[in-house]
Amino acid sequence: MSFSTDRPRSWQTCIACGNETVDIDPATRCRQCGGLLEVRHRAPDITRDELLRRFTERRGGPRGAGATSGVWRFRELVMPSAELIVSHPEGNTPLLHRTALDEYTGIPELLLKHEGYNPTGSFKDRGMTVGVTQAVRIGARAVACASTGNTAASLAAYAAQARLAALVLVPAGGVAAGKLAQAVAYGAQVFAVRGDFDDSMRLVEESGARLGVYLLNSVNPYRIEGQKTIILELLQQLAWEPPAWIVVPAGNLGNLSAFGKALRELRDYGVISRIPRLVGVQAAAAAPFAAGFADGFRTRHTVRAETVASAIRIGNPASWDRAVQAIRETDGIVLTATDDEILDAKAAVDRAGIGCEPASAAAVAGARQLARTGRIAPGERVVAVLTGHLLKDPGLPATEPVAIEPTVSALERAIDAAARD
Ligand code: F0G
Repeated sequence: MSFSTDRPRSWQTCIACGNETVDIDPATRCRQCGGLLEVRHRAPDITRDELLRRFTERRGGPRGAGATSGVWRFRELVMPSAELIVSHPEGNTPLLHRTALDEYTGIPELLLKHEGYNPTGSFKDRGMTVGVTQAVRIGARAVACASTGNTAASLAAYAAQARLAALVLVPAGGVAAGKLAQAVAYGAQVFAVRGDFDDSMRLVEESGARLGVYLLNSVNPYRIEGQKTIILELLQQLAWEPPAWIVVPAGNLGNLSAFGKALRELRDYGVISRIPRLVGVQAAAAAPFAAGFADGFRTRHTVRAETVASAIRIGNPASWDRAVQAIRETDGIVLTATDDEILDAKAAVDRAGIGCEPASAAAVAGARQLARTGRIAPGERVVAVLTGHLLKDPGLPATEPVAIEPTVSALERAIDAAARD
């Protein structure tokens, strides 16, 4: 084979029409058909064992060159050509276990991959370090996203680090206080769109090219490459022994897409031989993907979304086609949890001393449903992904402490009154 026909290290392929383009093409959708793009990499030219040895070495490696990042540790499978990396660092999130949550869910050993431990408090940092690295690579001056809050906070932080202008569109009145505070503090230009997330998403896609901004929602395939590392890192923490089930909240469907792609690639590269079943959990009144699952994905559903879990209040998910592939290839399922179930699961996670934001608790509510409906066989390991930090959404549940006079007797009376409640 001549040099010129050799595959480059990475390129982009449209998952709808198969059209291919170079890895530094700034278009975030297929130029031919508007379909979703996927980054493809040439298989690493080293053995499986050598690859895993590198991942292990970097885990305890020295600082610098992204070595301490739980994303860039896996660079061969994320962006092998990356040179100037924009990293906080991120990732390296814990896999937690609490007996109280085993009791709550009825799962013998429920493991929680807590992505709220990322620098801006959500999993979005894993995709954003790669997305903003790509933005710098293609010479973008400004980046943009629509967001229910976490993408906005993450985009704003990484754009600030790379000294890029950041434009953020959020649904007016639809974003939790902690997230908005972050986006503004990091210096993004934030606009509240009169409408919901789906209106914001449509607007940013329609105006992106005209405004000359690089779109960093999870339609951007480089975001997906970064989010794959949730799976890579959790498997590394489990000594590459896959769990039976991985449960994750599902909104715009970037994570389900990323998880499916990571598992497919790990199997193709011989890292794992068994694929875990993916479980997406949607809020009951924001569940177009669950409706799609119920009809075998024959039609694409959209809804007007409503839920207390504002992060996943999404009625027209952007990564639909990729996520369908992920569910099909992993024999996955899509569940719904009511707002009451979500808040109940959040209270259980919070009381276990862990804490998470409401959308994250959907994963625990979903895991509980799996156990209750007898779908988890004895001995099967379950990992639930907690996507965001408790402080992201401090308003839920409402917490106004009882005010007291600064005396011992007043304190005693208040404690007694609380005990009687
Ligand atoms: N959990 C949290 C905390 C989120 O912020 C999001 C999405 C999800 C789950 C759903 O993940 O979209 O990959 O299916 N938040 C986006 C945002 C939409 O703008 O921050 P998904």
